[in-house]
Amino acid sequence: MHINKDIKYIGVNDHDIDLFEGQYDVPLGMSYNSYLILDEKVAVTDTVDAAFRDEWFKNLSEALGGRLPDYLIVHHMEPDHSALIKDFANEYPGAVIVSSAKAFGMMKNFIGTDFEHRRIVVSDGDTLALGTHELLFVTAPMVHWPEVIMSYDKTDGILFSADAFGKFGALDIEDEWDCEARRYYFGIVGKYGAQVQSLLKKASALDIKTICPLHGPVLTEDIRRYISLYDTWSSYRPEDSGVLIAYTSVYGNTARAAEYLADKLRELGCERVVLTDLARSDMAEAIEDAFRYDRLVLATTTYNADIFPHMRHFIEGLTERGYKNRTVAFIENGSWAPMAEKVMRAMLDGSKNLKFTENNIRIMSAFSKENEIVADALAKELLSLG
Ligand code: FEO
Repeated sequence: MHINKDIKYIGVNDHDIDLFEGQYDVPLGMSYNSYLILDEKVAVTDTVDAAFRDEWFKNLSEALGGRLPDYLIVHHMEPDHSALIKDFANEYPGAVIVSSAKAFGMMKNFIGTDFEHRRIVVSDGDTLALGTHELLFVTAPMVHWPEVIMSYDKTDGILFSADAFGKFGALDIEDEWDCEARRYYFGIVGKYGAQVQSLLKKASALDIKTICPLHGPVLTEDIRRYISLYDTWSSYRPEDSGVLIAYTSVYGNTARAAEYLADKLRELGCERVVLTDLARSDMAEAIEDAFRYDRLVLATTTYNADIFPHMRHFIEGLTERGYKNRTVAFIENGSWAPMAEKVMRAMLDGSKNLKFTENNIRIMSAFSKENEIVADALAKELLSLG
């Protein structure tokens, strides 16, 4: 695949993966992107996962067309991109490794060498002339690891963006960008909104025409839209008006309350109501939806004088990613000693700028007629807060 006349895609698609980074379900697979810039000097950007050694070297060798690489630019040291650095260095002993100081430190830990005698250490504002193309380096700490650098091809306006603007899903399957890019963002980078904001500030000084990320498709059109979504996500603003009702239920009673509330909201004209059973749906998808929408209902049972484990896991997933700036309501169930609302409130204690509803539902075992009245009031209140 050609990005343009001098730049080729040499990455791979992974359809064998079960869980990305050991936890994310990726039913559409995953791509590990790598690029080749053929100019007076030849630069390879990043490698791929170790399982794709042969395929990547074949792609590289074919794309090189008999030339030899002068540089390997390492934007990120996570092994889905860095696993073949040592193999590359052995295969092409004339090539110099280009990366950040922190990345070279990590290389020592990961592969036993920091390439002391064949490396160029780059930082913010440094450039690398390849001939027609000149790369400008931009540091992007914690997007997604501390060593991350990005590079910007000043000639063609291409940003090699490391993990940023990436997406779950292999490239040989058609899939719209937003949903899996959002799930990827909040799963992997969501905690680091402030760092993404710093990066966007630096990026605003660049005329970006194309984004070449380490995962997902090369973005060539409507670049402003992608940057705007990253701005929304990283500043913790809700992207859409809507209500996520996230619940757990042991015998179906809490589920009934959640479903009743969802129906009521729809009846009242709430356009986006998403209902998710945390024990049976993808946790990363639920977290993504919580950040996407402006209102959240947490419905769970009291369990071992605490809350049901999937709800605990969910709320922790939100708070560790800096959940804030939204409205939250509670539905608790406790057959003899309801504790769930208290526990959930305490878990959200450190979350900034949350508005809590006045109407919250307490179920004592089964969802009752009295509960319905409170649910009706809660539905109206949630609607009024949208
Ligand atoms: Fe795709 Fe943070 O590695």
